[in-house]
Amino acid sequence: MQPTHLRTHTCGQLRAANIGETVTLCGWVDTLRDHSGVLFVDLRDRYGKTQIVCGPESGADNVELCRTLRSEYVVRVTGRVAHRPEGTVNPKLDTGEIEIRTAKLELLNKSLTPPVSPSQRELPGEDLRLKHRYLDLRRAEMQTALVLRHRIVKAMRDYFDEQNFVEIETPVLGRSTPEGARDYLVPSRVHPGKFYALPQSPQLYKQILMIAGYDRYVQVARCFRDEDLRADRQPEFTQLDLEMAFVDAEDVIAVIDGLAARLAKQILGLDVKLPLPRMTYDEAMERFGHDAPDLRFGLEIVDATDLAAKTAFRVFRGAADAGGRVRGLNAKAAAAKYSRKDIDELTNYVVQNFGAKGLAWFRVEPDGSLWSPIAKNIEPEVLAAIAERMQSEPGDLLLFVADKFEVTCKALYGLRKRFGEELKLYDPKSMHFSWVVEFPMFAPNEETGEQTGSWAAMHHPFTAPRDRDVALLATDPGKCRAKAYDLVINGSEAGGGTIRIHDNAVQQQVFGLLGLSPEDARDRFGFLLDALQYGAPPHGGIALGIDRFVMLFAGLDNIRDCMAFPKTQKATDLMTEAPGAVEPRQLRELSIKSEVKPT
Ligand code: AMO
Ligand code: AMP
Repeated sequence: MQPTHLRTHTCGQLRAANIGETVTLCGWVDTLRDHSGVLFVDLRDRYGKTQIVCGPESGADNVELCRTLRSEYVVRVTGRVAHRPEGTVNPKLDTGEIEIRTAKLELLNKSLTPPVSPSQRELPGEDLRLKHRYLDLRRAEMQTALVLRHRIVKAMRDYFDEQNFVEIETPVLGRSTPEGARDYLVPSRVHPGKFYALPQSPQLYKQILMIAGYDRYVQVARCFRDEDLRADRQPEFTQLDLEMAFVDAEDVIAVIDGLAARLAKQILGLDVKLPLPRMTYDEAMERFGHDAPDLRFGLEIVDATDLAAKTAFRVFRGAADAGGRVRGLNAKAAAAKYSRKDIDELTNYVVQNFGAKGLAWFRVEPDGSLWSPIAKNIEPEVLAAIAERMQSEPGDLLLFVADKFEVTCKALYGLRKRFGEELKLYDPKSMHFSWVVEFPMFAPNEETGEQTGSWAAMHHPFTAPRDRDVALLATDPGKCRAKAYDLVINGSEAGGGTIRIHDNAVQQQVFGLLGLSPEDARDRFGFLLDALQYGAPPHGGIALGIDRFVMLFAGLDNIRDCMAFPKTQKATDLMTEAPGAVEPRQLRELSIKSEVKPT
């Protein structure tokens, strides 16, 4: 790296080849050790650590100053690069062959005793880390994650630049966008009583850009969604957002396939075979119980409803007769690993978390027969047929959920995820990319949804149905499948997009199903509806969750660990203490009266 006026090298730079040079380093005191009058400082910056030695030959002043140093003091040191004495070389450190023999030590700044120690192995509570984020961000793990984030975004930008995409910024202050979460609102001072909404995504602007002829748009875009937070969700997050004109789903998928392979190679050195595997939404739900299945391991769901219909066993027969399903998993060779108590715990897990009514299980005995407390209720020929259907072998553990299809999906998805982890069915370092396509257009509306019709959009209201399904909009909307595609990495939804409707009649029909009257639609999206009438090209796009990409590429399980300044589960910033109260004057200017006193 280029020297600056204050330093010649970084703390991660010097090697044996530099021995004999006089250098100046700056950094933070990571650790300080006193070995009978000779002081050793590990000096740290974001490039690494270098050992500084301050002993009698450094002079009394330097030694005296060195003795006063504490963790996180900022110092500047000039000295000669020397080989470490025999037996003290540290092969784990890039700079582990050398040390700096101090000629001049300067204190640039002191530090209070840090409540979060960047050099400490065990992490303090996350609240403390978030409150003192400037200290937490000094930790090597955080620095690695943020540098990785930079590399991923840079690689994305380079890739799209090569493919003729133009990066165009879209406004943050705008009208409400249609992603279906709650909006963050910003009151207008100039227009009392009116509000901007922060974008949940640049969705409408990017469609307008296609109509405006930009053909290939991309943006690293900030999105804001006021929704319940989870380990992989933040109220403010970043998308790699893109839109393309004159394309069908295959074209968008091919562009992202290329990106996935490029990133895997460039960032992780992995070869990814293209095209990425694909399955339809319906297939994903059948085989894995979820629309973002983890394909790093098998353990697929097996249907046994037809067999369940043949037994007198109330639990199985009842579900089959009621139009439900009886489906199960074969946890290979797991019978000995799960005691009765463990299975009771698994039962509680599916009952409490997914609304299952129970968990039926069988151990496969050495002779291949099925043993279970409920086996006596099931006819031997049905038991044998179940064993065969599940391709069971001695030592396997079979688990079944009998319920409505949706409940079997959720419960078996949850169980599969647990077995994947507990039985170590995959290499946590491996990466698996795939597509789930042809999502339903609509999901039955939940009462709490913002739309008032009987249907809610699975993706958003501008998503096009498959050509052969357009007629279903009138007859059976629940069966209608969309030109939609989600990118799945290791069982996480890493991106999602669709081809858009560019036919006004179809758009109106979809609005109708969503309970949006023509007036409502005009009020909310009038500008887009107008624009669609001025020569809109066929178009579609996708958005990738950059935070999730980084999380998955870094092998982290918490999205907060790959963002510099994330919010807590309660959507607060513990460092700045946002959200905060404002002056009464500010509220008056905005013509806002608050009924509550902030706590
Ligand atoms: P969607 O809503 O599926 O699509 O979002 C795309 C991707 O953004 C990421 N993501 C999030 N990441 C972190 N925190 C959140 N709260 C959060 N919400 C979403 C996910 C997701 O796959 N406009 C459409 C895209 C399009 O149709 O082109 C959209 O926003 O990785
Ligand atoms: P019960 O007769 O309700 O005590 O159930 C007998 C066994 O079947 C218990 O092990 C339950 O956990 C299991 N069971 C009950 N309901 C279901 C269901 N819907 N799906 C799978 N197993 C069930």
